[in-house]
Amino acid sequence: MPPYSAQLYYKYVLAVLLILCASAGCGDAQLTPTFYDESCPNATTIVRGVIEEALQTDPRITASLTRLHFHDCFVNGCDGSILLDNSTNPNSTIDSEKTAVPNNNSARGFDVVDNIKTALENACIGTCPAVVSCADILAIAAEESVALSGGPSWTVLLGRRDSLTANRTAANEALPAPTFTLDELEANFLAVGLNTTDLVALSGAHTFGRARCLTFTDRLYNFSGTGSPDPTLNSTYLETLSEICPLNGNGSVLTNLDPVTPDTFDAKYFSNLQVEEGLLQSDQELFSTSGADTIDIVNNFSANQSAFFENFGESMIKMGNISPLTGTEGEIRLSCRRVNGESYGLTATLVAERDSRGSSGGGSSIAGSYGGTDLEIELVGGVVDTDPIVAHMHKVQ
Ligand code: HEM
Repeated sequence: MPPYSAQLYYKYVLAVLLILCASAGCGDAQLTPTFYDESCPNATTIVRGVIEEALQTDPRITASLTRLHFHDCFVNGCDGSILLDNSTNPNSTIDSEKTAVPNNNSARGFDVVDNIKTALENACIGTCPAVVSCADILAIAAEESVALSGGPSWTVLLGRRDSLTANRTAANEALPAPTFTLDELEANFLAVGLNTTDLVALSGAHTFGRARCLTFTDRLYNFSGTGSPDPTLNSTYLETLSEICPLNGNGSVLTNLDPVTPDTFDAKYFSNLQVEEGLLQSDQELFSTSGADTIDIVNNFSANQSAFFENFGESMIKMGNISPLTGTEGEIRLSCRRVNGESYGLTATLVAERDSRGSSGGGSSIAGSYGGTDLEIELVGGVVDTDPIVAHMHKVQ
């Protein structure tokens, strides 16, 4: 092809791509509620089943799973990055977010996410492995957790893909601290496109779950370096909290975020704020900052639980839309704890095994894990180097 026609050809390709981008919205692919309708129609039911099972022994799990989605979305978008463990590969760029300050000894529910992933993989093993992304698992798990705890349901948008990396520094920078003032909270939410109503509605997630003493002890003994308790802390509540969290006591002791209905998703969080029984400074700021635009919203949500539920669902959808990976970005992980390059280490072992056998014949086997399921691979063919490898994969009983 002469050079000028090659140039024309590339121009033509570029024009077609531009038109396609304009109509399909390149780089801004949309999430949709029907994403798994064909490939994994029971995804939501499967997620709910695993959470119900976990709830039998862990009444806190719904709160913990809801928080994981928040901590995922605020750090480089909803991409499942919070679920990655540190890699064993020394060249890896993965710096696990699990040890960032807001997550360390705090974020939990990772084993339940693994169980959900395994259940989803088993539901379609052999036909569609790695169909439901870990980022979507967190989005579905948050909605199902809230609904199972008495809160609202909402239509979860799906189609997120999983990140290839994790960033501990970004987690430290992006997640809000319990000592933030209202201005700092509003700025933190605005940075990811969430407004003041979203801030108040989403803070309502502190209607369930627990917090460690170390996240609020300053309020009991030395608020903002004053040597005195936080003046916006109800004095009876202060006494109760001081017994649970004595000065210089164990900072890891847990208490309920909502002292009234600790495991129920309801509007009590907001009536608590009205009587100065918000546990964290960041909670009480929403009601006790004088002249703040958040006070009316707290009063409204306290008086009208349906308004809270409706706004909460809407804000969760907005939060779930923060910078998702879509299309061909990222990947669908096999194990939520590892990028696929590492999960497929099993394949590398298989090749090495064959090479080491030379032409001695089949019969050897190796064991490994695929998507959380223990598997054994038995080599039954590939006698000489040029043969294709024939292997049988069994589920280990
Ligand atoms: C507004 C800024 C926020 C701050 C400063 C904040 C801070 C905290 C802190 C310090 C804890 C206790 C952690 C511990 O002691 O280990 C906590 C727990 C929790 N947070 Fe938040 N949070 C915020 C917003 C949110 C949002 C938006 C959600 C969800 C939509 C959420 C859901 C939860 C839940 C459910 C728990 C209890 C988790 C459990 O029991 O495992 N938080 N939060």
